[in-house]
Amino acid sequence: MTTETHETSGASAAPLLPGSGEPLGTAPAPGPWRHRHVLDLDDFGADEIITVLELAGQMAEVLERRIARVPALRGHTIVNLFYEPSTRTRASFELAGKVLGADVLSVSASTSSVQKGESLIDTVRTLRAMGAGILVMRHASSGAPYLAARHTDAAIVNAGDGAHAHPTQALLDLYTMRRHFGDLEGKRVVMVGDIAHSRVARSDLWGLAAMGAEVVVCGPPTLLPQGLRPGDRPDHAEAALPHVEVETDIERAIEGAHVVMALRLQSERQQGGLLPSLHEYSLHYQVTAKRLARAHPDHLLMHPGPKNEGIEIAREVAGGGRSMIEEQVTNGVAVRMALLYLLALGRDAAAASAGEGAS
Ligand code: CP
Repeated sequence: MTTETHETSGASAAPLLPGSGEPLGTAPAPGPWRHRHVLDLDDFGADEIITVLELAGQMAEVLERRIARVPALRGHTIVNLFYEPSTRTRASFELAGKVLGADVLSVSASTSSVQKGESLIDTVRTLRAMGAGILVMRHASSGAPYLAARHTDAAIVNAGDGAHAHPTQALLDLYTMRRHFGDLEGKRVVMVGDIAHSRVARSDLWGLAAMGAEVVVCGPPTLLPQGLRPGDRPDHAEAALPHVEVETDIERAIEGAHVVMALRLQSERQQGGLLPSLHEYSLHYQVTAKRLARAHPDHLLMHPGPKNEGIEIAREVAGGGRSMIEEQVTNGVAVRMALLYLLALGRDAAAASAGEGAS
């Protein structure tokens, strides 16, 4: 899917001064950035991904300060609009906005006028009418954030839509990998589990492909996307997925891997007849210490969470020395600060050129 974009120049790699309190419209662009919304990574170039990741590094330094508060987004209102449950994404966006000095509020569909039949578009327009300039949205339906983006001038951030995309998770995954490996070119990244229903896997695929990583997806054929199952015709591959290696044997997949990412087995799939039993799935696809012994000696073990220990990932490796699971969560705050900053910067620059105030 493509998105409407907004160019904020960005040739400069000048360091960001998030503590300055200057209006963002006058701040230097921290790097190339063309987005008005963040809907997926399929329209992100490596240059923009690097802008986000390098800015996130600066945001991580802000978070390490004794008083981690900067007024960079003062005057901006951010609304988290969640139609599905979330712990990490919602809490980290809330923290990210507050650390940057924005007004942040969270709205759950389950306790909002959505329950009285209010449509998505009306809800978005209502929140915009209260001054929300950035809407962080999670929805069970693939494409819902794209619909919202067509009906508002607020910036929309996709915090997970159905089985389609979860771009901010992918960016924090890339940030975590890059912190440990530097350049990701040629790094073997293996995603294991329910690839077919994973919005994280799809966005990670785009991001990893842009960064030149070698991506392998591994799972039982019933949990691989259409076109990636053994025997599928290549021309039937799911539209708009970058090239990946497909492996149904976990031992072969993990051989030499720099990153092994276990994905949550969505237990509802079992009822859909896609798996014979959880026990059988764990036997063949659980990421265990024995299987990880085949990976590169410096491998990272990742999981976007929430995880089912004892099903897709063994307890001892989830809490083991190669596990990045908690670091991923920590990095999520800095990455989301960087995204909010870039979106606000673009909005302020657009408002300044139109002779208006910030939103
Ligand atoms: N990884 C992730 O999206 O977690 P939450 O559902 O807790 O936000």
